[in-house]
Amino acid sequence: AVKKMWGGRFNAVSPEFAQEFGASIDFDQAMAAEDIEGSIAHVTMLGDTGIVTKDEAATIKQGLQDLDAELQAGQLEFTVANEDIHMNIESLLTAKIGAVAGKLHTARSRNDQVATDFHLWVQHRLPEVTAALKKLQTVLLNLAETHVETILPGTTHLQHAQPISLGHYFMAYFNMLQRDVERFDFNMQHTSISPLGAAALAGTTFPIDRQETADLLGFQQVYTNSLDAVSDRDFAIEYLTNASVLMMHLSRLCEELVLWSSYEYQYIEMDDAYATGSSIMPQKKNPDYAELIRGKVGRVYGDLTGLLTVMKGLPLAYNKDMQEDKEGVFDATTTIMGSLHVMTGMLSTVHIKADNMHNAVKADFSNATELADYLAAKGLPFRQAHAIVGQLVLQGIQTNTPLQDMSLATLQSASALIGDDVYHDLDPVAAVERRQSLGGTGFDSVRQQVAAGKQLLGDA
Ligand code: ARG
Repeated sequence: AVKKMWGGRFNAVSPEFAQEFGASIDFDQAMAAEDIEGSIAHVTMLGDTGIVTKDEAATIKQGLQDLDAELQAGQLEFTVANEDIHMNIESLLTAKIGAVAGKLHTARSRNDQVATDFHLWVQHRLPEVTAALKKLQTVLLNLAETHVETILPGTTHLQHAQPISLGHYFMAYFNMLQRDVERFDFNMQHTSISPLGAAALAGTTFPIDRQETADLLGFQQVYTNSLDAVSDRDFAIEYLTNASVLMMHLSRLCEELVLWSSYEYQYIEMDDAYATGSSIMPQKKNPDYAELIRGKVGRVYGDLTGLLTVMKGLPLAYNKDMQEDKEGVFDATTTIMGSLHVMTGMLSTVHIKADNMHNAVKADFSNATELADYLAAKGLPFRQAHAIVGQLVLQGIQTNTPLQDMSLATLQSASALIGDDVYHDLDPVAAVERRQSLGGTGFDSVRQQVAAGKQLLGDA
C-alpha cells in the first residue's frame, strides 16, 4: 500500500473501502483551481518573507502554474489514495519538481487551506450568481414594460380580487430578485475573509504575512482569530440561505406559470422550446421546466438543512465532519445557476394571451371594490358602501349580470348616490389605471416602477 503524506507515525493503512469513504477528492476537485491559486499566494508570501528562499519559491510557483495549465487543459488526474484535492495537488507538484515541493506546506495546515479554498470558491461564484440574477431581472423588466396595460385578475386566496396590470405582477418578482441580489452582495462581506495563515488552529511561529496572501487572493479582510478562521462556515450557510430564498421566489413564479399554462387559465403558453410532450398523450404540452425549477427548491432547502445540521454542536476547531460542508454548496450552485438560466430563457420566450387575461376580469365581480370606493368617495362610510355592493354582487350572481351590465335604475335602487359616471369606474381597465397610489398597480405607477428598475440595473 502507498505510504500516506502524513504516514510517519502509522504502521498500517486503512482498507481501500474505508479510504474511499474518507476521501473527498471525488467532489473537492471542484476546488482544484482555488487550491492552486491559494498555494501560489502562500508560496509567494513564503518567498517574500524569507521563510523559503526566493529560488525555492520561484520553483514551487512555476510548478503550480504548470499544474494550473494542465488543469485547464483537463490533463490532471487525481487519486483516492491521495484523499483530497490538497494532497493530490501537492503530490502532483512533488512528481513535477521533486522534494522542494515539500516546502510549500510550511506555516500552513490543510485546515486553513481547505477553508481558504472554500471561501475562494464561493467568492468566485457570488458575482456569477448575481450576474445571472440580473439577466433574469432584465427579462422581467422588459416583460413589465411591454405589459403595463395588459390587465388580468389579481388574486388573493387564488380567488379573483381586483384587476391588476401584468407589468405590476412582473415588477413584484423583479423586486424580490433585487433583494436576492442584495443578499448575495452582502454575503460577500462574510465570504471575502482570508483564513490563510491560521494554520492548524493556533497560528504559526513563522513570520508569515497574512495581509499579503489576503491581498493576492482578493480577500477584503483577514480573520482576526485563528480558531474562528478554521471553524467558520457561516459564509456558506448564508450562501445556502440566500440560495433557498431565491429558489423559494422562483418556485412561486413557476407555480403561477404552471397554473397559467393550464386549460382552465390559458393565460400563457410556453414556447415549444421550453415545453415537453407526453410519450402517450399526443396532445400534451407540459410546462416541465417550470415544474422542475419548482421541484428543485427541495434540493436547495436540503443543502441548507444539511450544512446547518453538520455544523450544529461541532466543537472548535476543525473536525472531519466539516468535509461534509462542500457538496451541498456545489449542488446548490449548480441548481440555482441552472434554474436562473432556464427561467430566463423560458420567460423571454413565453407567449402571453393578453385577451384571455382581460376576458377573465369581465364578469368576475373584481370591480366590486370600485363601486364601494365610488360610494365612499361620495361620502358614504366605507362599511355601508361595502354592504350595499355586497347585496348588488349577490343579485348579480343570481341573475348572471356583472355590475357594469346592470342598469342605472338597478344600481340606483341600491343607492341613490350612484350616478351615470359610475360606469367609467366599473370599467376594469379604469380600475387598474386609477390605482396611482405609491406602489399601486396604476399604469403610471407601474411605469415609474419600471423606470426605477432600469436605473437599478443600470447602476449595477
Ligand atoms: N478534505 C478535508 C476537508 O474537506 C480537508 C481538511 C482536512 N484536514 C484535516 N485535518 N483532516 O475538510
